[in-house]
Amino acid sequence: MIAARLEQVRARSLAYTDADDELLVRQHSTLMSPLVWDLAHVGNYEELWVLRELAGVTPLRPEIDELYDAFAHPRRERPRLPLLPPAEARAYIAGVRGRVLDVLDAADLAAPDPMALDGYAFGLVLQHEHQHAETMLATLQLAGRPGLVGDGDLPPGRPGDAGEVLVPAGPFRVGTGACPWAYDNERPAHRVRLPAFWIDRFPVTNGAYLAFMEDGGYADPRWWSPAGWRWRAARKVRAPLFWAPDGGRWWRLRFGRAEPVPPDEPVQHVSWYEADAYARWAGRRLPTEAEWEKACGWDPDLGRARAHPWGDAEPGPGHANLGHRASRPAPVGAYPAGASAYGAEQMIGDVWEWTASWFEPYPGFRSFPYREYSEVFFGHTYRVLRGGSWATHPVAIRTTFRNWDYPSRRQIFAGFRCARSAAPEEV
Ligand code: AVJ
Ligand code: FE
Repeated sequence: MIAARLEQVRARSLAYTDADDELLVRQHSTLMSPLVWDLAHVGNYEELWVLRELAGVTPLRPEIDELYDAFAHPRRERPRLPLLPPAEARAYIAGVRGRVLDVLDAADLAAPDPMALDGYAFGLVLQHEHQHAETMLATLQLAGRPGLVGDGDLPPGRPGDAGEVLVPAGPFRVGTGACPWAYDNERPAHRVRLPAFWIDRFPVTNGAYLAFMEDGGYADPRWWSPAGWRWRAARKVRAPLFWAPDGGRWWRLRFGRAEPVPPDEPVQHVSWYEADAYARWAGRRLPTEAEWEKACGWDPDLGRARAHPWGDAEPGPGHANLGHRASRPAPVGAYPAGASAYGAEQMIGDVWEWTASWFEPYPGFRSFPYREYSEVFFGHTYRVLRGGSWATHPVAIRTTFRNWDYPSRRQIFAGFRCARSAAPEEV
């Protein structure tokens, strides 16, 4: 199972980097690494956590560690480093992988060592490589590369069924204690009591977002936070990233191809500032991440969290748009079978959803296995995103999974849905 998943994610990384060297070593945006950096970095991370930490193997190429340490070099600097050229990077990661499979064969996944127990170190590198694969896709979108990216069919939507669902007041459990591969920032599980609130059944669509634009939303400071208004003015933002007007309508560039903006798809490539402004314009607000998690995963009848919004069945093509089946979000209403206990749909997949919350530790947080995964990012700098996108693999998403980014970020596959507190007479 683990070996097959390792093979699958590696096929994904290699497919996204199946291009000439020039494309791989070039920096397409100072916001992103050259693709060849991500490629060798996932192998170096695998070497560090499986070969050295779990198995005690001597470093294969200790001299390159520093090059692939995300903290030693910000993305902007990475193209100037003496990186392994593409062919060498492929050979290096293949060499690491061969040894990793030997370690897996011999491993006792019931051993009390927390790196071994339930295959933790393997789960860590699997999720990490899928996360970087999604980052590579964001780079390819910025580079405008049509050739590398396929586009499968998605189910039709039910845009007419939009509206809100009510999540009644009451206690529930945030985070997880049970999921063996959960990250440190998802722990410990703890009880939270929330007042009743309404949350959108679907993510906000391009069509709804266009109504905000056409109503002068980008020109009206009433809708914007002070920081958002400054950001909008400094960058002269007036539409989501990759959108452009032509001939009286809006077009978007998707992996290098121009197409009319589809009204029924969740909006993506908006910053937290834009999501926050839209919500205020709509007379609503962004959900907190606790609200988001309750609406997504809590089962009020059983009094426990579900593994997935729809229950405990593994994600199938009828549940959610995950794993790069198509290179886009599905139209809203495409996944009735993926509804949560409260009736919210498309919580998992399609677009990452901005929440109102800063990325902060849960009470009793303990960093594991290293401070630089989560702990160093806590505070009032990053906003939390939930639910994963069409580019996120099922291995790297859960109802409790927390992602975070700067509120100005737009190149990630992120959108949002709105919420509001329920009035006393509504509940
Ligand atoms: C969770 C997406 C914010 O890409 O910075 C990758 C994931 N951590 N390698 C990031 C991560 C280490 C992280 N995010
Ligand atoms: Fe990484």
